[in-house]
Amino acid sequence: MCGIVGYIGPREAVEFLVSGLRRLEYRGYDSAGVATIDARGSLNVVKSVGRIDKLDDRLAETPLAGNVGIGHTRWATHGAPTDVNAHPHFGGDGVLALVHNGVIENFRPLKARLQSEGYEFVSATDSEVIAHLIDSCLGKQDLSGDVAAENYQPLVEAVQAALKQLQGTYGLVVAFRDWPEVLIGAKSGSPLIVGVGDGEHFIASDGSPLAGYTDKIVFLAEHELAVVTAGSLRVIHRDQGHVSHSVQVLEIEAGAIDLGGFEHYMLKEIFEQPESIKNAMRGRLDRDAATARFGGLNLTPQQLRAMRRCLLTACGTSWHAALVGEYQFEALARMPVEVDYASELRYRNPPLDNHTLVFAITQSGETADTLAALRETKRKGCPTLGICNVVGSTIAQESDGGVYLRAGPEIGVASTKAFTSQCTVLAMLALYFGRLRDLSYAAGRRIIEELEELPDKVRTALRCNEVVKEIAGKYAHCETFLYLGRQFNFPTALEGALKLKEISYIHAEGYPAAEMKHGPIALVDKDTPSVFLVPQGQVYDKVMSNLQEIKARGGPVIAVVGEGDTDAARLADDIIEIPAVEEYLQPIVSVIPLQLLAYHIAVARGCDVDKPRNLAKSVTVE
Ligand code: M6R
Repeated sequence: MCGIVGYIGPREAVEFLVSGLRRLEYRGYDSAGVATIDARGSLNVVKSVGRIDKLDDRLAETPLAGNVGIGHTRWATHGAPTDVNAHPHFGGDGVLALVHNGVIENFRPLKARLQSEGYEFVSATDSEVIAHLIDSCLGKQDLSGDVAAENYQPLVEAVQAALKQLQGTYGLVVAFRDWPEVLIGAKSGSPLIVGVGDGEHFIASDGSPLAGYTDKIVFLAEHELAVVTAGSLRVIHRDQGHVSHSVQVLEIEAGAIDLGGFEHYMLKEIFEQPESIKNAMRGRLDRDAATARFGGLNLTPQQLRAMRRCLLTACGTSWHAALVGEYQFEALARMPVEVDYASELRYRNPPLDNHTLVFAITQSGETADTLAALRETKRKGCPTLGICNVVGSTIAQESDGGVYLRAGPEIGVASTKAFTSQCTVLAMLALYFGRLRDLSYAAGRRIIEELEELPDKVRTALRCNEVVKEIAGKYAHCETFLYLGRQFNFPTALEGALKLKEISYIHAEGYPAAEMKHGPIALVDKDTPSVFLVPQGQVYDKVMSNLQEIKARGGPVIAVVGEGDTDAARLADDIIEIPAVEEYLQPIVSVIPLQLLAYHIAVARGCDVDKPRNLAKSVTVE
């Protein structure tokens, strides 16, 4: 969703700001803007609805000078995507400029009060309320002394006073016209990080803008403020004053966010999967003990052994990974598992206790619903583990422990490599919990060998790319697709359908293959292809029967089959072969052709694959 950048130091700020905004484009946005303070002390803003290229054109007409500045990509929540609603917003009569991610729930009463104090609003946003509110709090400070010599305390107190009145979420940065040597950032429910350079500081809503500038970062925790000058950083708690901070080394290389010769990030990330899966497993397979090991669970084996059930919660693709996890945990760990959408769980009232282990599964670690579900289950006494990709993200910080995916930055809005890494981590966790329970040493060893072979199996599966491209060309005109699979491949079917919907805007439904005769079969006709997942396994014959039921009704069938499966090849209109793999790992391999199919169909239809309409990479609103 929205993205934030800020800079203070010797460079021309706008260069970092615009390059940073480009790197945040993947989050999804509809308008963008930057503000700088120039050498004459003038605070200027340039913004534009549409892509960063348009903002760049405007900056060519109206260049912004200055060594301090803030920038933003906006994904509209309050007010249409327009120039006026784009950030930065001025506070007061241009005394300060602010960029904000998140949603302010009580913006209406605050706005009414500020209007009664004489503030005039130009936008429909909730964010402009914060800008004026800070200005109003600034008016109550004594600014007659040397504010810089006072460590900018009057500015900090004004921001703190304003933040205390907000209900909702924010990651924000404020630039002050009369104090161009300081920026103040703050975080509550929406991420903000500070990059520490040599005589300069960078601010961003995630690490990607910082790649190539600095690898030293400070993650702000909830309710923390960063008071940043070129040469100093102070972290202050909104309610408690100064707090210490630690500088961590960021593992993003500039190359990790380049296209690397691929036409789209999504394709690049699909092809990265053999490596990302290997990274998820690196150092985590213990052959001697025939189990997996994790550094950050923060619970003893005895405590984990005492867990009676697992509750897996997530949204979107991560929820599909959770469903895969359910099958894996049942198969390997023999543990009862419940999977729930985080958006539902947060308002349900399921019986929970301290023997229910909650897993919050998320690529970004910032999904608002998943975060709320995590907090709700923690409140009820459940131990919580995060399965996250983004290091230092809010969910990673707030979980009791967890496992990082180590998939590297996922830029394409359609999640691909995060899904297969999530399934891999869940398989390792299922092995670990199995070995704490009834799984034998021999079975553990066998599973480790199967996991070790997985990256090569995925590499082999990727060889289907050209075949899939051809099939995509044949069906790209169709307006409805069905995706059908059973058992472990039921979540794969859901994920295949979601991928197609997201990036090609084609209606697609994923179903357990046998369920389709209870309704969806009515959709079947010669223009409605069914994508069947029929790798070898315990339900192979059953899925083949379902496939024949579709063929009997004249529906075209694209079948994802095990290598050399002549039976399926005879029945299906088109086949895509994947290598044989144990059933609990099948989704990780069988999803590959589905990701590629969605990708090639979207390209054939001329869709913007990496920035699909209406979607955001990180969904930080409810
Ligand atoms: O960052 P998260 O994994 O928590 O995100 C959850 C969903 O928003 C996400 O998976 C979404 O469905 C993707 N666009 C799927 O491609």
